[in-house]
Amino acid sequence: MVEKSTELIHGQVVRKDPARLRLTPNLQDFEGLRKTFKWSDADKMVEWFPGGKINAAYNCIDRHAKGKRKDKIALIYDDGEGNAQTFTFGQLQVLTNKFANVMKKFNIKRQDRVFFFLSRSPELYAGFVGAIKYGAIASPMFPAFGPDAIRDRLLDSGAVCLVTDSALKKRVYEVKSQLPELKHIIIVGKDVAENEISWEKEMADASDEFDATPMDPEEFSYMLYTSGTTGKPKGVVHAHKDIVQMHLSTYWVLDVHEEDVYWCTADLGWVTGVVYGCLGPWSNGVTQVGLGGRFDPERWYKTIQTHKITIWYTAPTAVRMLMAKGDDLPMKYDLSSLRALYSVGEPLNPEGVKWAMDVFDVKPFHDTWWQTETGSILITNFPEMDIKPGSMGKPLPGVEAAIVDEAGNILEQGEEGSLVLRPGWPSMMRQIWKNPAKYNEYFRNGWYYTGDTAQIDKDGYFWYVGRADDVIKTAGERVGPFEVESALIEHPAVAEAGVIGKPDELRGNIIKAFIVLSPGFSESPQLKEDIQKFVKTRLAGHAYPREVEIVKTLPKTRSGKIMRRMLRAKELGLPIGDTSTLED
Ligand code: WTA
Repeated sequence: MVEKSTELIHGQVVRKDPARLRLTPNLQDFEGLRKTFKWSDADKMVEWFPGGKINAAYNCIDRHAKGKRKDKIALIYDDGEGNAQTFTFGQLQVLTNKFANVMKKFNIKRQDRVFFFLSRSPELYAGFVGAIKYGAIASPMFPAFGPDAIRDRLLDSGAVCLVTDSALKKRVYEVKSQLPELKHIIIVGKDVAENEISWEKEMADASDEFDATPMDPEEFSYMLYTSGTTGKPKGVVHAHKDIVQMHLSTYWVLDVHEEDVYWCTADLGWVTGVVYGCLGPWSNGVTQVGLGGRFDPERWYKTIQTHKITIWYTAPTAVRMLMAKGDDLPMKYDLSSLRALYSVGEPLNPEGVKWAMDVFDVKPFHDTWWQTETGSILITNFPEMDIKPGSMGKPLPGVEAAIVDEAGNILEQGEEGSLVLRPGWPSMMRQIWKNPAKYNEYFRNGWYYTGDTAQIDKDGYFWYVGRADDVIKTAGERVGPFEVESALIEHPAVAEAGVIGKPDELRGNIIKAFIVLSPGFSESPQLKEDIQKFVKTRLAGHAYPREVEIVKTLPKTRSGKIMRRMLRAKELGLPIGDTSTLED
């Protein structure tokens, strides 16, 4: 094994020997580039229209379809049941053109919000990219969302068009009466009502020809709702210009080469699915796999074997779940096609990095760090770089990251503080939809505050410490305690609720709810279960409290705000800290 290894762990460092990597990494001389690189250098990697206009979707599909990649496979869609369909760049051009023409027929305006509530399917990719090509603002939603989550997003964004399917539409109709701006509902599948639009029929009738709309680089391409500490999820809005950095980071970090078969396991409802499971790889003209169905270790290994995946981008919870299944399972499959592994979303334990080296023929996971707001990977382990297992790696050339104290002073190496970034990278969010105050909260002292705490070691590697706020990361998904609390108090038995993240070996964190019952209700296992189910079906499958504890009172400030910090301290047996603002 060691003989043919490209990477070896020496002490705590995975050493890379570039001469022995299967392909020469796209990023060479990382340290040199950090000194010389300018973002304007990256502008040349994408195609522009006259007058400085651009279209992200054109760069993903049309520019390849017009050239030598016309017949190259762009998408291998595997439904997870053993059926795979392939689509070339040429075929995706036709599908996205058709969808853009459907938008036109229904008089969707430039920058109108077009939402997708679909399971992963060829229609989701074609619709999402087609809407961007047309000039709408496209937004995919998790198929696990319940009616409340759907309503919050469609209402806040003022979405005029929603693409969903026969199976999922029921949840939309539960809240449809609260969505006056939603004019068009397009249905994928057979069960199409009179007031709905049939995807099948309209796509069949639509013309194959459409010229991608030349957009101002600052015009919006997609938006995604994500959670903060307070309030409902906020709409993070991204511009067409993002494609520059989506392209470059996919090229440098995920290191895609012409012959690669690339697989990102993330759903398009998550920013990872949008940026690295759709737009970034396609901008690079790479073949990517989309897998339908739910997480299943056997199916995942089989997917790698069947499609001869070379690059694999996934999340730590998935890695831990695979680890928990044991090493015999991966040994049953031929996984030798794999060339590079990446992970994102939560801290990747050193054990995960090392486990991968055991079972995937000495290939480690490369941890990558970024956020919905940052629009692409900003801190990462590169293929040519030595890995310190447990570290997020180093900032991309062109990115300035630092650890600061409350006043914005840069801290010494080894000191814990806020992870901040110097604004100015191309894929940065352009606004929080209709909420400039929320947007401005991110910026202080000339820095963008990520909400994470971290530290830097003597070699310049960044190490994640935690969240500086109450945002919960559960199985990689970002959940706001306020959303869960709001859903909980809609249940008749719940008078008050406080929600925290509780550390969990498999999921990173689980959601735990502390509940004060309404008069007339008494604690029982059935009631707790009923409350959990309520949140699961109203809000989202992944955002319900796995643990519910009934309490008599919740710690509150004198102004009535629930002190989650104290709930967390009590739960984890930590010092309670400053209680001077406590109610009594
Ligand atoms: C966390 C995900 C540790 C972090 C693309 C960040 C991570 C939040 C890592 C963003 C990592 C992401 N190590 N933590 N490599 N990557 N995070 O918006 O707290 O869903 O602020 O975007 O995930 O979550 P989001």
